[in-house]
Amino acid sequence: MRLSPTLPMLAVFAMALASSAHAADGARLFALQCKACHGAQSSVAGPSLNGTFGRKAAGAPGFTFSPALKAKGGTWTEASLDAYLAAPQAFAPGGRMAVAVAAPGDRAAVIAYLKTLK
Ligand code: HEC
Repeated sequence: MRLSPTLPMLAVFAMALASSAHAADGARLFALQCKACHGAQSSVAGPSLNGTFGRKAAGAPGFTFSPALKAKGGTWTEASLDAYLAAPQAFAPGGRMAVAVAAPGDRAAVIAYLKTLK
């Protein structure tokens, strides 16, 4: 059977739609579960998460991070953010963030949203 040349294009289009829906779900979750501590500017409550994706851990300007997260090192990737959000205290024992996101799908949506915060 010969596949129509439009099919792969449709698949790409559907994937683009899916990932923007994902980030929109993440935006809702972020507003409910993260924004109280993570504003556009770092505050006493938490660091700004603008530009966090791809930056080194504990790298947000204007925030005094815990020695635990600073010592952890590394870069925020999908994998490290997923591990941190699943269990922040297991990722960096003694760190200052206690909020976790239990459902893997919710973590993926929040991470998709974090990527859009430049
Ligand atoms: C009660 C306040 C609070 C809430 C709610 C909260 N956080 Fe945090 N978050 C913090 C604090 C404080 C730190 C700094 C941790 C440290 O220094 O150990 C942090 C650190 C982070 C970091 C690392 C930033 C960096 O530059 O290395 C990420 C990523 C993060 N939080 C994501 C989230 C997400 C996503 C949510 C919502 C699901 C969330 N946080 C909810 C307080 C909070």
